[in-house]
Order: sequence, then C-alpha cells, then structure tokens
Amino acid sequence: MKVGVLTISDRGAAGEYVDQSGPLIRQIILSRMVGWSISHYSVIPDDFDAIVHTLIAWCDQDVNLILTSGGTGFAPRDITPEATRQVIVREASGIAEALRAASLKITQHAMLSRAVAGIRGQTLIVNMPGSPKAVRENLDVLLPILPHALDLLTDKPGTESQHRAI
Ligand code: MTE
Repeated sequence: MKVGVLTISDRGAAGEYVDQSGPLIRQIILSRMVGWSISHYSVIPDDFDAIVHTLIAWCDQDVNLILTSGGTGFAPRDITPEATRQVIVREASGIAEALRAASLKITQHAMLSRAVAGIRGQTLIVNMPGSPKAVRENLDVLLPILPHALDLLTDKPGTESQHRAI
C-alpha cells in the first residue's frame, strides 16, 4: 500500500517549527503495517487551494491512503475538512465518527475536531488533528480496519467473504 502523509500547518510550512506529526505518522505506519510505504510527504499551509491541489495530485498518482494532520479545529484558518470535502466523492463518515467517539473517551476536546474521511477513486483520505498526541490516538483506532477498508476499495478478490470473520 502507498501512503501519503500531509501535514497542514501555516507555521510548519513557514519553517517556524519542525513538523512532528508527519514523521510520527510515518514511523507508526512503517513499524505496524508490514509492506506499506510512505510514497508522499509534504508540509503545506492552511490554504484551501493548496490542500485541494495536493490531495487531487496524490489521488491521481494512485496513492491508496492519504492521512492528513492539522487544520480540523475551530481557528479561522482551519480549513482542512472543507478542502477534503471538495476532493472526496464518497464520504466515509463511519471512520470520522469512530475516531471522534474513541477520542472523546480520552479528551472532551475531541469534539472540537471537525475531521472528515472519504474516498476519491481508489484513494481513502482521512483527516486527523494536528498534535502528535491526537495522531497517535487516532492511528490506534484507525490502523486495524485499514487493510480491509483498502482491500474493499481496490476491489481485491475475496475481500467480501472476510466480512464474517471480522
Ligand atoms: N483527538 C484526540 N484523540 N486527542 C487530542 O488530544 N485534541 C483536540 C481535537 N481532537 C485531540 C483530539 C483538540 S484540542 C482540537 S483543537 C481539535 O482536535 C482540532 O485540532 P487541529 O486544529 O490541530 O486539527
């Protein structure tokens, strides 16, 4: 599986601080998902057009999964969910609901994330909040369902028959 990691942060893109969440996502994926690779990684500002452009370009390059980090909150510049909605064709609301529900058990601040998830072609895009803590907590919930989700997306033979086993 090819994974794209997109950190969305004005300050990160300006070099005012070193992105921690992107490298953390990379490290967690590479240590826990055998055979997966990080094919794309970028740090971009909270800019609607930049986010849309990057997501579409990566989808067109056959990335199976794009994990975004940051820009999901209430701050005036937080625009990640709106840009993601512009790109996805089918919403995967169950993923966003599950991530928020699990996060709410850890912190009430989870309700401040407006993160969305969805599908464009054969690419799954999942928004996560920006902090390394939130990234770790989201990936704990997300990673176990990803192999099956991505097999379904790529229409891998025999995938439907696994439903009973899960
Ligand atoms: N979800 C988890 N699991 N853990 C967290 O620490 N932080 C919350 C929330 N979701 C948090 C979380 C906070 S404080 C905010 S403001 C929102 O995510 C939005 O974060 P963002 O603006 O960095 O995307």
